Parts: sequence; C-alpha cells; structure tokens
Amino acid sequence: MKKHIKNNVYWVGKNDWELRQFHGYEYSTNRGSTYNSYLIKEEKTVLIDTVFHPFSKEFIDNLASEIDLKSIDYIVANHAEIDHSGALVDLMKLIPDTPIYCTANAVKSLKGHFHQDWNFKTVKTGEKLPLGNGKELIFIEAPMLHWPDSMFCYLTGDNILFSNDAFGQHFCSEQIFNDLVNQEELYAEAIKYYANILTPFSPLVINKINEFVGLNLPLDIICTSHGVIWRDNPLQIVNKYVEWASNYQENQITLIYDTMYNGTRSIAEHIAKGINLIDSNITIKVFNAAINDKNDIVTEIFKSKAVLVGSPTVNKGIMSPLGGLLELIKGLGFKKKKAATFGCYGWHCTSTKIIEDKLKDAGFEIIMEPITSNWIPTNEVLEKSVEYGKQFINKLNNK
Ligand code: FEO
Repeated sequence: MKKHIKNNVYWVGKNDWELRQFHGYEYSTNRGSTYNSYLIKEEKTVLIDTVFHPFSKEFIDNLASEIDLKSIDYIVANHAEIDHSGALVDLMKLIPDTPIYCTANAVKSLKGHFHQDWNFKTVKTGEKLPLGNGKELIFIEAPMLHWPDSMFCYLTGDNILFSNDAFGQHFCSEQIFNDLVNQEELYAEAIKYYANILTPFSPLVINKINEFVGLNLPLDIICTSHGVIWRDNPLQIVNKYVEWASNYQENQITLIYDTMYNGTRSIAEHIAKGINLIDSNITIKVFNAAINDKNDIVTEIFKSKAVLVGSPTVNKGIMSPLGGLLELIKGLGFKKKKAATFGCYGWHCTSTKIIEDKLKDAGFEIIMEPITSNWIPTNEVLEKSVEYGKQFINKLNNK
C-alpha cells in the first residue's frame, strides 16, 4: 500500500517487522527496519530506490497495483546496496529499457551485484532531471554515506531531500513520519545507526552537510531509506548529525569485560565504584561483552569519553566475544577517547597487553597501566581496583 507524503510524492516501500540482524550478523535490528522506496508522479513518473531482495515480488506486486509499471519514466538508484536495489532484477525484467539514474560508482556496484547491463544514466552533483510541472530532481553525490556509490537527490518545488542511508534508523513503524513515533525509541535507533554505521565517515558527513547548506535549497522533508521520514523540523536530525560527527562525547565512562569465573567482572565493578566515589555525576555503564548486544555496546562507547576494557588471559589471548567486539570497534575509527585495561590471569598475563594494542589500533589513548589479578581477586586487589577507578577519573579530569 502506498502512503502519501506530499503533493505527488508517495512512499511505496516495505516494513520489515521481523528483521533482527542486518549486514549478515554485524548489526542487530531489535526494532526491525524499513526499506523506503518512493514514487513521484509529476508529468514524469519516477521511482526512487526499491527494497531488500527477499521482498522483491511483494514490492513489485504492490507497485503494479498502484501504477502501470510501464508508466515509470525513470528509476533513481541512490545506493546500490541490496537493501535498496534488491528488487531491481525482477523489476527490470518487466521494464528493461527504463533508464536508471545513478552515480558512476553505482554502475560498478550494481553490475557487481547483479551482472546486468541495464540502461544506466550516470549523474554527478548538480545535474538535474526535469519532471514537468516546474519540478526537477537535483542529484548530489554522497560518497561513503554509506558506500562509494551513494547519492542524495532533491525534489524542487516540494523541497524534499531523498537522503538514502543518511539520517536513517533501523526502526520499523506503520507511522512513517518522525512526529508520530515514540521519540525516545526513534533517537535510540538513530544514534545506534550513526555510531555503528556512519562513525568512520564523520568528516564526510560534516562536509556533505556543509555542501548541502551551501546550495541554499529550502528543506521541508527528509525522506530516508530506513525508518521514519523527517517532516517535523527535519533540521533536528541534521543538527544531531553535526553533533555526532564532531567527536561526540557525553559525560560517560563505559566498562566492558568478559569473565570466566567472575574475577575480571569483580575488578570491573570495583573500578566502577571508585569512579563513582570521585565523580558521582558521571554516567557509568558496565557490560559483559559475551551477554550484551555488541551494537548496543558500540553505541555506549560512542557516547563515552573513556572506556575500561578487561578480560582474563585465555590460551595466551583474550576471550573471544571481547575479541569480536574489539575488531568491530577497530573499523569504526573512534577519536579522542581515552582507555585503560584490566584482567585476571593464572600462570601468564597477556590479556591486558593484547587489549591495549587493540584499543590503540582502534584510535584510543591508553592513559594508565593495567590493573591485574593473579587468580581470583583478593580483597586487597578489589580495594586496589576501587583506587584504580579513582585514579582513572582523576587522570581523565586532569586532577
Ligand atoms: Fe541501507 Fe547502505 O544500505
């Protein structure tokens, strides 16, 4: 079923309430997601993006119940990733000559995915596509937001920016507008999406926002490719992106550990106590990496000014759930965050050095030597852990 957005613009996407994992198993989607596709029916009819390939038939059947598919004059592929281009293969079998407007990089990606030589029309920033009735689409390349091929397009007259992945959220709702959904849930998903997907591209986010502002185009609505459409004060999410892209930090410290017999866990809890004794205003969050959602932990790291990470030594290494999390963090390129490490060991201590090296690789600054415990921590070690927490927060606050 299509949903009306403004004048002759409609949502024709797919709500995926069931989705719980995305990018394979790299990203948890606990509130599902949506694949937003848009139909513009001016003198020319334009389809912007499609849906994830498992929903290809449903999408095309729905679209065909709304319009004669042969009346689609243009397809715009803002992004080649298959959650947006997945229905193209089946759709192009029905309308094989329809031109697909996309970036040169999208041609490479689409050919790489589908091995088809469709009627591609490559576009660059500033190029325009007249739609009749005095309206046109203006294309704006947006490389790495989220892939090299990504682009935005802007509909004049209606003042709508189709931003694809940017400003999106993996958040499923029948109510497609930002003002109609629970704001806490919306922003929880928006910041998780930014932290886990867009953090590595923060400098590009700032540049792209500045470039768009420089175009002096009025902005009434942002139509993203996932989650809700920003029609109520769309600049609110743009301003949030500027904040998030600028080495975002809240007054928060996050402790992350893995543990075998609760020794490393005890150290974490006592460090947390020490931090709280010195600074009762700072938010402290503590996570066992093995039992918490890794993407939620990443979101908490994104919000933090410092992290403390611990693992017992296992086979000269660290516990594998924590290892996976550190690998995930490495790719995100966090900046200006401080760190320290801790852990238990039996006959050989290597875990803290391994974690330190991984945190340094991920861009964290190590500000203290590790605290360790030979076997299960004694009361003396736990008291030292409290002191360690005090010293850590003092060092962080330069006291
Ligand atoms: Fe929603 Fe980069 O795809």
